[in-house]
Formats: sequence, C-alpha cells, structure tokens
Amino acid sequence: MSGGIVAGRTAWVLSALGGLFALVVAVGLFILGSGIAGGTPATAAPSSVSNGGVHLGVASCSGSTCHGRQEADGQVVRQDELLRWQEPSSPSGAHSRAFAILAEPRSVDIARRLGLASAETAPMCLGCHSDNASHGPRFQLSDGIGCEACHGGAQNWLSSHYAVGATHQGNVANGLYPLTEPRARAELCADCHFGSNRPGQFVNHKIMAAGHPRVSFELDLFSTLQAHHDEDEDYVARKGKQSNVRMWAVGQAVMLDRALTLFSDNRIAQEGIFPEFYFFDCHTCHRQISDDAGFRATAVANPGRPIPSGMPAFNDENMIMLLAAARVTAPSLASQFDANSRAFHAALASDRGSAVRAAGRLRATASALANNFSRTDFSRAQVFQIVDAVSSPANLARYTDYEGAVQAVMATDTLLNALVNSGYVGAGSATSIRADIAYSAVREPNAFRPLEFRAAIGRATRAIRALR
Ligand code: HEC
Ligand code: HEC
Ligand code: HEC
Ligand code: HEC
Repeated sequence: MSGGIVAGRTAWVLSALGGLFALVVAVGLFILGSGIAGGTPATAAPSSVSNGGVHLGVASCSGSTCHGRQEADGQVVRQDELLRWQEPSSPSGAHSRAFAILAEPRSVDIARRLGLASAETAPMCLGCHSDNASHGPRFQLSDGIGCEACHGGAQNWLSSHYAVGATHQGNVANGLYPLTEPRARAELCADCHFGSNRPGQFVNHKIMAAGHPRVSFELDLFSTLQAHHDEDEDYVARKGKQSNVRMWAVGQAVMLDRALTLFSDNRIAQEGIFPEFYFFDCHTCHRQISDDAGFRATAVANPGRPIPSGMPAFNDENMIMLLAAARVTAPSLASQFDANSRAFHAALASDRGSAVRAAGRLRATASALANNFSRTDFSRAQVFQIVDAVSSPANLARYTDYEGAVQAVMATDTLLNALVNSGYVGAGSATSIRADIAYSAVREPNAFRPLEFRAAIGRATRAIRALR
C-alpha cells in the first residue's frame, strides 16, 4: 500500500532539496512504510556507539546465497541487500560510494585547499567516508561504509545469525548492533551525519570552508532514503513494529544531545582563539552586508535566541523540533526544555564556562525527552498536534534561518508520511499536499526569506489539518 507514497516521497524530497542533498532522483524504491501505532517499547539504548569487534568485510556478507542475490526472493529477509546498498542511481547506494567519492574532483579540491596529500589517505576524511574499525583479511577499504559499519562487526555473529532458531535478540547479544532501537540507531548515524569525538569524525568549519557540503540530517527521512529492507509481517514478528514518528522525535533529541556534547568538549569546541563555527547557524555569520543607507538587513529578530544582535547563534534546528514534540507528548518536560534552551543561548553571550554548564542542563532535558519518546506510542491525534506545533506561531517566529527551516520541512514531510503509512490519510491527498510543503522556500540557502518560508509552511500545515 505505501510503497508508492514512500517512493514518491523519496523522489520528491531529493529533487526538491536538490541544493541540500548531494544526490538527486531516486526511482522505484521498495520500502514498506512503518506505522505510527504499536511497537515494542525500545529498551535502554547504549550511551555510546560500539560497532562491534573485528569487521570481516562486505565480501563476508555478499555471497550469492546470502545477501548478494539478484532478486529479493529471500524467505526471511530480501537477500538482495548488497544490490540495494550499491544502487548507483539512488541514495540507498550512498554508503557504498562514500570512499570512492574521495577520489573525485570535489574531494581533490577539498584536499588541496586543506593542504592534504590526498583525501583517500587523510584520517580527517576516512573517519566518516570509510568503515574505520579493526579489520579481518577480506575487508577492503574501497568498500566504503560497509554492512558492518552499521550492523556491527560480524566476528561473533556471522555464523550463528542464519542458523535455524537464531533470533534478533540472540544476534544482538552476540554483537549485532540494535538498529531497530531509535536511540541506538540515532547515535550511530549521528557519528557521521553530525560528528563524534573519535578521530576523523568531525567535519569542522575549516573542512566546510574548503568546500565540503553542508551536513543535514533527519533520522526517519534518512532511514527511509537508505533502507534496504521491507517491513513486512515477518519483520514485525521478529523485530516489532517501527514508528516513523518515534524515530523522528528520538532522532531530534539525540542529534541535539550530540551537538551539545561535542560543543562541551574543549578539544573540539575551539579553533585557535575562536569557537568552532560548525556548531553555529551558518547564515548568522554568512549574511550579505552593505554600506548603502537604504540597505535592509536580512537578519530577523528571533525570540527563541536571547542573544545580542551581532553575535552568531547556535544552530537550534533540533531544539525547535524537540520543543514541538515535547509540547504535545511531554508537557511537563516541555517548559523545562524551553527554559533550558533559552538559558543556553543566553549563556553563549557570557563566557565559555557558563555556556558549557548551560549545555549540560539542556542535554539532560534532551536526554530525558529521548527516553520519554522511546516509550511513546504516538496517537493519530498527537501526530496532527505535532504537525500543528511545528508551525505554531511560537515556532514560526523561530524560523529566522535556513537550517531550522529545512528541519521543519523534513519534519512536516515525515509526519505526513507517518499519517499515510498508518492509513490515517490517503496517499492521494498526501501527494498533493507534499507539493506544497515549502520545499521551494528552502531550495537556495543564500536566498532564504524567513517571512516567505513561514507563509509556505503555514499553508502546508493548514492543508494537513484539513485532513484531520
Ligand atoms: C563527520 C563525518 C564526515 C567527515 C569527517 C567528512 N565527511 Fe564528507 N560527507 C559526510 C556526509 C554525512 C556527507 C553527505 C552529506 C549529505 O548529503 O547529507 C558527506 C559528503 C561529502 C561529499 C559529497 C558527496 C557527494 O556524493 O556529492 C564529498 C565530496 C565529501 N563528503 C568529501 C569529504 C572529504 C574530502 C573529507 C575530508 C577532508 C570529508 N568529506 C570528511 C560526512 C563526513
Ligand atoms: C548506513 C547503515 C547501514 C548499512 C551500511 C547497511 N545497513 Fe542493513 N540495515 C540498516 C538499517 C537501519 C536497517 C533497518 C533496521 C533493522 O532491521 O535492523 C537495516 C536492515 C537490514 C536488513 C533487514 C533485516 C531484517 O530483519 O529484515 C538486512 C538483511 C540488512 N540490513 C543487511 C545489510 C547488508 C548485507 C549490508 C551491506 C551490503 C547492509 N545491511 C548495510 C542499516 C545499514
Ligand atoms: C561511517 C559513517 C556513516 C554512518 C555510520 C552513516 N552514514 Fe550515511 N552517509 C555517510 C557518508 C560519508 C555519506 C555521503 C556519501 C556520498 O555521497 O558519497 C552518507 C550518505 C547518506 C545518505 C544519502 C544522503 C544523500 O544526500 O542522498 C543517507 C540517506 C544516509 N547516509 C543515511 C544514513 C543513516 C540513516 C544512517 C544510520 C543508520 C547512516 N547514514 C549512517 C556516512 C555515514
Ligand atoms: C562565526 C561565524 C561563522 C559561522 C557560524 C560560519 N562561518 Fe563559514 N566562514 C566564516 C569566516 C570568517 C570565513 C572566512 C571568510 C573568508 O575567508 O573570506 C568563512 C568561510 C566559509 C566558506 C568559504 C567561503 C569562501 O568564499 O571562501 C564556506 C563554504 C563556509 N564558511 C561555510 C560555512 C558553513 C556551511 C557554516 C555552517 C555550518 C558556516 N560556514 C558557519 C565565518 C563563519
């Protein structure tokens, strides 16, 4: 039922956000959507990512009787995962290309500007563009981000995971990474799709200034874009029903937690006499200026960021989304979260010690929200309320810059998709609304107009509300 809408979603999102995503146009995706309701509550997630022991290499997974089939005719899993992971024309193949991209002209230019001999040998690139773990003999760096980078080193579960009677829980106990748990999945993706404090996993502003594309992420959307599995009955029986909204909400909390953790790390958070710019909203520095008397400043006042004008603002895309989700499902934490996020912005104008302490308090609330969302079954009414909250007047006033606006667009798309996957909204009505989710208002970062964006996202929200 939902294959069509998800495929449509993918193609649409990629072409609409062409300026944001590196890859364009996906066709014929096969993913069955995951619903809102139900689901086994996630158990405690690991606090930091461990992708297992020795990585045996993609060759150990890709046998023609294993995950290397030409057709998706496996009894339990598709078994053509290798092909999906390699798919050249779609984002589902992005990870297999991650190493190869380091030899291409864009990377060569980045490396030259950074004074690196080559991107393919530079630890500051390999941390995210390869599977940087300890290796077995069949492992090849050129495989890029292989199966075990996400599923965990297979040393202790390779031979047992296809045995008769093997269970998901048993595999996880043997070291398979628990990707079905939103918090665990988010921590893993965040390592490369935001950064970590491990060597080579931080794409700092110097790398950005050398030409690296902006890194933008939303857990549910990006999971859909790279999926190589079907969430069929058998999957649900083995692993429980997944929830798009839970994935989205937990993803927001974990990404914020990660940003604040790294910001608080002295080794990462400073560059010479400056703070590390990566943590700040890019366009709060990169604005046009003019000496003309008639020049109209492009900055717009932002009530969610109590900082003096003339100072860059911390990138608060995830804070804005989290508050929307918290207001609906965890009102008691929401006001605390709101107060802590304002206090954090304000502390940035004071001194680093205060800012790090305020970051710690905000992180604690974000982490409490992640736990809370991990246990929440988002009801139909709540999903509609979150759609409203994303574009509530309080939130609209906070879309002053590009990053937050992009996150709002991805959220609205994800929430609409969740309503469709749960059968609450017809695919036809969703398709026509999707055309108006303000994608065009975030297509060109340098031409971002807050007021036009607010009008556009407001229209989409009203159209979704009408489906209630
Ligand atoms: C923190 C992890 C991280 C580090 C470190 C990193 N990258 Fe990336 N890189 C990414 C991610 C994630 C993307 C995809 C961004 C997206 O589309 O959302 C990407 C995308 C790219 C792209 C565009 C890919 C395409 O398909 O067009 C190039 C080129 C690139 N990186 C080169 C480099 C080089 C060269 C280095 C080292 C100087 C480097 N990266 C370091 C995470 C990283
Ligand atoms: C970027 C991370 C990532 C990479 C790389 C990756 N996977 Fe996955 N894979 C996932 C996620 C997320 C899921 C969905 C959650 C789950 O079921 O574990 C998944 C699901 C699967 C499933 C479905 C399991 C089921 O129970 O139905 C199989 C099989 C699988 N992957 C095999 C592979 C193989 C083989 C490779 C390498 C060719 C690979 N994956 C590479 C993230 C990844
Ligand atoms: C080891 C680092 C690493 C991990 C872990 C990782 N990614 Fe990626 N991902 C990358 C890099 C690097 C790219 C860009 C590759 C390129 O375009 O050459 C990328 C690209 C993608 C893309 C394509 C984006 C686009 O612009 O089309 C999607 C979707 C994606 N990742 C989803 C995920 C999800 C979901 C997870 C967690 C389950 C995950 N990734 C985990 C490094 C990683
Ligand atoms: C605190 C202010 C500040 C923030 C925040 C900031 N930058 Fe910069 N950026 C600078 C400065 C200063 C330069 C150097 C300008 C120069 O060399 O003329 C620069 C240069 C660049 C350049 C090279 C531009 C050129 O023409 O050479 C790029 C690309 C860039 N930044 C991207 C980003 C991205 C992406 C972000 C957000 C993740 C960001 N910046 C956040 C201050 C900032």
